[in-house]
Amino acid sequence: MFKYILGIQSFANADSGACIIKFSNNLVDYVAISEERLVRKKFPYTFPINSISYCLDHFNIELNDIDLLVSDWIREKKWKRSAPAYDYQMFDYIKEKLKFKKQILQINHHLAHAASCYYTSKFNNAAILIIDHNGSDLETNSYFIGNKNKISHLETYKLFGIGAAYSAVTKNILNLGTGGEGKTMGLAPYGGKNKKIEFKLNGIKTDFSKFMLRLPFSDILNHESKNLRANPIKQSHKQANKKNIMQKYFCDWAHEIQDVSEKILVHLGKDIKKKTDQVNICLAGGVALNCVANEKLFKKARFKDMYVFPACSDSGIPMGLSLWGYHNFFKKSKRINFDNAYTGKSYHKNDIIKLLTRFKIKYETKCNSDLAKIISEGNIVSLFSGKSEYGPRALGNRSILADPRDPNIRDLINIKVKHRELFRPFAPAVLEEYCQKYFELESSPFMLRAVKCKKPKKIPSAVHIDNSARVQTVNKKQNLFFYNLIKEFFKITNVPVLLNTSFNDAGEPLVETPLDALICFFQTKIDYLFFENYVIDTKYFSLKQKKEIYLKLKQLRQKQIVDNEKKAIKTLLSNFSRKEYEDRKKV
Ligand SMILES: [Fe+2]
Repeated sequence: MFKYILGIQSFANADSGACIIKFSNNLVDYVAISEERLVRKKFPYTFPINSISYCLDHFNIELNDIDLLVSDWIREKKWKRSAPAYDYQMFDYIKEKLKFKKQILQINHHLAHAASCYYTSKFNNAAILIIDHNGSDLETNSYFIGNKNKISHLETYKLFGIGAAYSAVTKNILNLGTGGEGKTMGLAPYGGKNKKIEFKLNGIKTDFSKFMLRLPFSDILNHESKNLRANPIKQSHKQANKKNIMQKYFCDWAHEIQDVSEKILVHLGKDIKKKTDQVNICLAGGVALNCVANEKLFKKARFKDMYVFPACSDSGIPMGLSLWGYHNFFKKSKRINFDNAYTGKSYHKNDIIKLLTRFKIKYETKCNSDLAKIISEGNIVSLFSGKSEYGPRALGNRSILADPRDPNIRDLINIKVKHRELFRPFAPAVLEEYCQKYFELESSPFMLRAVKCKKPKKIPSAVHIDNSARVQTVNKKQNLFFYNLIKEFFKITNVPVLLNTSFNDAGEPLVETPLDALICFFQTKIDYLFFENYVIDTKYFSLKQKKEIYLKLKQLRQKQIVDNEKKAIKTLLSNFSRKEYEDRKKV
């Protein structure tokens, strides 16, 4: 007899999604997805109705079969009302109508982050450091300790955190938008010292009060519309645009905020080590996406081992919530097996073939060595394989791949495919057993550690301007298909590394379904699409044919999105009024 736990956020979160854990006495399984992947819009701030439907479908169950719903809270511990500052009408409307009559638990947002990283780690004992923008009640930094599946809270600091300061510089000075923090990190090595941000450190406290204001200037409305956006930075500054972003002034800003982040992470790392006396550390919260700062923390705070949860930003909250329910409400001790970050559902090969046949898309079947050869010949390739990744990094199942030896391919991908800023680096995916030959690192399965590359001249397109690289190590257990592909590439080129970036166009979420993969392939200038060993070559199609197929595919997806939402509304909600729903969405 199985039990099921559903985890969802309770307020309009940019990274909303769902996770279901299924378990019995001797089995535990899971599925998790972010809403943006299903509605094909980044940071949708909508109730994760499609994600819940996706997770239920995966286990072939209904909402009624869920035994426990776990959620976080914001400002007030109330389920039906997302608290005054988060009066996001559509979100609360769906909650009111949700056909769920069983138990709902609400836990602290930072505790959910802590559960996500501790319960998916291999550690029995660990210090847990959470740093993000805002927790349930304005928390920015929290210390926890994990011991024998129990998470104890030690200390929390509210108000001025590095997460909010980093976002403020990213949005209000560098003008790189919501979720643009990774771009700031990429820009940082182009700048130099220019001390601009004053802050004080005292234990867990990180005080930026001389530099910035706090709520309501960092409230949700800032993300929604430029008209509602207030600048949380105390002094006024010039704002960058696409043309002048590489000017010294802006590069120095990126450098300065990155430098401050590294100092803060090192400080907090040392402080939590002193206070917990642990040898292992788990990291989560949006700030843990800063792979450069993570590595500095790890080295300077002298932990023996460090684990960063792949969906460490709020996209990972649903899994943290359901894991918390599993280990604490149901008091289960068996950990989930989290060797890889592939938490989505897989798509059957026959369905992929059917889709290709329906749209008369020619494909060939090729062996792994042929695939590797295609990459080694300078082609830009997209790979769709198995289940999708949790969190923002593509880890070989929804990836764009290329030959990192070619110094020009980086710019080519940026111009032809990703349409993004030229200063942003691409990451290397390396066979784990060769990692130490190429990088100052043993293992980094989730691309959340950035280290120096020992052979930058061998893989110029997968290292940054400062010779650092955000490494993904790949082993057989984690991803057999991807491992074999890199191995074949190694046989041909003597380089055990592929350039790996996410399979999407600029401003789009990662592709989720085979249909998304085809749409992205036909709308960009990717040379080949690999559905594992089924290969589509762009040369099969004229420009006109590509456009025609693209439009038909896009139409089909639009219909599917509408149909999926209708189905979710019908199966998950009661007394639903379309008019009321549309009205609330507009607010
Ligand atoms: Fe968070």
